Amino acid sequence: MLIKTDRDGFDHSVPSEITPQAVYRGRRDMLRWMATGAAGAALASWAQREAFAQAQVPRPGKLAPLAAAKSAVAGAVTMEKLTDYKDATSYNNFYEFGTDKEDPAEHAHTLRTSPWTVEVSGLVKKPVKLSIEDLRRLAPLEERIYRLRCVEGWSMVIPWVGYSLSKLVERVEPLGAAKFVEFTTLADRDQMPGVRSRVLDWPYVEGLRMDEAMHPLTLLALGMYGEVLPNQNGAPVRVVVPWKYGFKSAKSLVQIRFTDRMPGTAWNKAAANEYGFYSNVNPNVDHPRWSQATERRIGEDGLFAKRRKTLMFNGYEAQVGQLYAGMDLKKNY
Ligand code: MTE
Repeated sequence: MLIKTDRDGFDHSVPSEITPQAVYRGRRDMLRWMATGAAGAALASWAQREAFAQAQVPRPGKLAPLAAAKSAVAGAVTMEKLTDYKDATSYNNFYEFGTDKEDPAEHAHTLRTSPWTVEVSGLVKKPVKLSIEDLRRLAPLEERIYRLRCVEGWSMVIPWVGYSLSKLVERVEPLGAAKFVEFTTLADRDQMPGVRSRVLDWPYVEGLRMDEAMHPLTLLALGMYGEVLPNQNGAPVRVVVPWKYGFKSAKSLVQIRFTDRMPGTAWNKAAANEYGFYSNVNPNVDHPRWSQATERRIGEDGLFAKRRKTLMFNGYEAQVGQLYAGMDLKKNY
């Protein structure tokens, strides 16, 4: 993010192999049908879903299906065309694996996602350490189709699988003094070659105000496209905050801590004048080095592809605008 300086010249080659939308859609409908019980509990067995997934779309290695019901959360569904799986998993920001867009897909296979524990601690009544299996069981999984807008000026539309972070927050019972939530992600030199560089002050830390963390749109994501998260997208668990620039959506979480102080976040520490704590998507507040008024939708890369207008709060203003009532969003960028 810090490195690119031109307005819209982020390099991105057109993928030669694109998973047809119909194949993914059909498979997802089938997973849903199996999960709803319409096909009977026996049919919804893991083995059958696995076999079905493999028959339809070949996926890299160890991805396993993760069925989920469609979300009932207002604003969680968009009718926009989904980004192709191949683009969503090969054009990534995950600096622990390098700073180029293709680095995470190339290097993140060294990340060991099992066993994995997330510590939930700080100003709470009931601190807890949860395994990924615990997290998968904590609340019913939902599919949430969200736009994700990167501060660099590109966006994607991704069907995430997870549940509102608020479900986890309620479980630990925060104390009244808890005003912020700090997310810390894994920083292990052995598994993550990028951590050997000083491009950021590791570990990657992000934060939300308590009301932002409790907003139903804030997602604890365990999967995407009906499957577990690929490593390059933040396996085995990340947050997704759809009305904020992508860097607020921290990947590969190991700790969630409740605090009375605004957390020092990785990008804010790296360049405070460019990346604020709030980082709400806002077409009216330019990044000091480029405009934020428009964006390039990944996959719309043809010669005549137009940039799209960036929407206030990434299009989620009706749901989240009131969280910032009375705040000067130019100061609190
Ligand atoms: N989380 C960690 N741990 N490390 C990172 O470098 N990059 C962020 C965010 N989460 C990042 C991270 C940025 S800049 C973006 S745009 C999104 O992840 C990208 O998510 P995606 O690759 O799944 O699209």
